[in-house]
Amino acid sequence: MTGDGSLWIAGLGPGPAHWMTPEAAAAIAQASDVVGYGPYLDRLPLRAGQRRHASGNRVEIDRARLALRLAAEGRRVAVVSGGDPGVFAMAAAVLEALEEGDPAWRALAIEIAPGLSAMLAAAARLGAPLGHDFCAISLSDNLKSWETLARRLSAAADGDFVIALYNPASKARPKRIFQAFDLLRRRKDAATPVAFARAVGRADERIVLTNLGEADPGLADMSTLVLIGSSETRFVARGAARPWLLTPRSYGAAR
Ligand SMILES: C[S@@+](CC[C@H](N)C(=O)[O-])C[C@H]1O[C@@H](n2cnc3c(N)ncnc32)[C@H](O)[C@@H]1O
Repeated sequence: MTGDGSLWIAGLGPGPAHWMTPEAAAAIAQASDVVGYGPYLDRLPLRAGQRRHASGNRVEIDRARLALRLAAEGRRVAVVSGGDPGVFAMAAAVLEALEEGDPAWRALAIEIAPGLSAMLAAAARLGAPLGHDFCAISLSDNLKSWETLARRLSAAADGDFVIALYNPASKARPKRIFQAFDLLRRRKDAATPVAFARAVGRADERIVLTNLGEADPGLADMSTLVLIGSSETRFVARGAARPWLLTPRSYGAAR
């Protein structure tokens, strides 16, 4: 290892600059090298002289190794993630790479700047859907089997959690979200509120409120966070405006 290399793992938030923390912005500003998924780097106002290392979205572990290698060479590196870097994202990839990589990497100065995760941004748009117990499940299938996913969805439904679905669909696996809805429809009431929150905070944001029985899973793409209510989640009307989504803080009060 050479010099005083360092590595920040920084969360960009789900889109707009005002949803990025000052700490993450400072971590990126001080970096000599910024590593990340190409479209995320395109969103950043990088200054002249900062080296940009863009990669595709399925190569997190290679990106993590590159960031560690650059830091070990003495560079000041920021590796960026959308949302929070600890939620289905780069912080885990970097620590996995650290665990199996050059032992010298373990001595590197590594810090993690948290970010606003998509489910929290979506919840703020929708009202208070996460007011009581909830869980987050990724539908990505390159990192776990359908059997594992089905077991977790079933347990979340049976536990009556509000469910936030990340990575609901992609061109490579357009059917998984349909399978997930089929499973949930067998275990939950058709009237359960459902929200498709797409590109929250971005110019092409789109929110669709519906219920489990009527929901079209085809509305979900890779920029969508899908929220499925618990048995106590409900809509709160507010005149002509879109209703709020509410999961009350106490459970079972109405029973
Ligand atoms: C690989 S995961 C990364 C999650 C990220 N680390 C976070 O904390 O939000 C990508 C998924 O996050 C969700 N997502 C990210 N940004 C979003 C946004 N602006 N609006 C809705 N969902 C978003 C989508 O489900 C997308 O498929």
